[in-house]
Amino acid sequence: MVIILDENLIELGKKNAAFKAVEENVKKGMILGIGSGSTVVYAVEAIVEINQKNNLNLKCIPTSFQSRQLIVENGLTLVSLDTYPEIDLDIDGADEIDNALNLIKGGGGCLVQEKIVASASKKLVIIADYTKKSEYLGENWKKGVPIEVIPLAYVPIMKKLEKLGGTPVLRMAHAKAGPIVSDNGNFIIDVDFGKITNPQELNIKLLQIPGVVDTGLFVKMATKAYIGQKDGKVAILT
Ligand code: A5P
Repeated sequence: MVIILDENLIELGKKNAAFKAVEENVKKGMILGIGSGSTVVYAVEAIVEINQKNNLNLKCIPTSFQSRQLIVENGLTLVSLDTYPEIDLDIDGADEIDNALNLIKGGGGCLVQEKIVASASKKLVIIADYTKKSEYLGENWKKGVPIEVIPLAYVPIMKKLEKLGGTPVLRMAHAKAGPIVSDNGNFIIDVDFGKITNPQELNIKLLQIPGVVDTGLFVKMATKAYIGQKDGKVAILT
């Protein structure tokens, strides 16, 4: 009997979702937003394959230091928002996806640049494995909503987050003493709000707190989500 571990099924789900999304959405001459995280690594693999095979002349805009490295190390063409402020397609992962395609992002600490690139894109296509899909945000993703904040404001911000009903935790680094520092030089607070039934309202409240740079709530931004299933199929949500 062959036992397939859940971890392998999750990895397969990520890969299948990424390859299908790239195959169906990436076209010749596109300006592409390249997301961050482990699923996006597969998308870059797929992009390199079709770019080489079909000579697609793609231009890529990163959403983080990691994604910039992925673009450069894989020989793709790196461009910036300064010269290409309008992106045809952004492909990115997510930590959780609800029924209305609202997202929690930033589990890997890259939410601010991800949201800027997503907002400059005509389409945001999400790639994920089956563990990321919930009816409501906060149902499966128990680490809380990542919020990027200006460092000197983190204590008053944490108090305000508690008043909003959240349980905030300053995200700590693993191979460094103290908190993690984002690609933008800021801190990240993860806030557990339990089940989030109105992400739009919550996002507006969070953005009103001085010192909050942005939140990992991506409300009504995603166009489509490709979700790799346990059985090898890919469900497409629109
Ligand atoms: C990066 O900070 C995140 O927003 C990622 O997009 C998200 O965490 C998904 O990452 P994985 O593909 O590694 O699950």
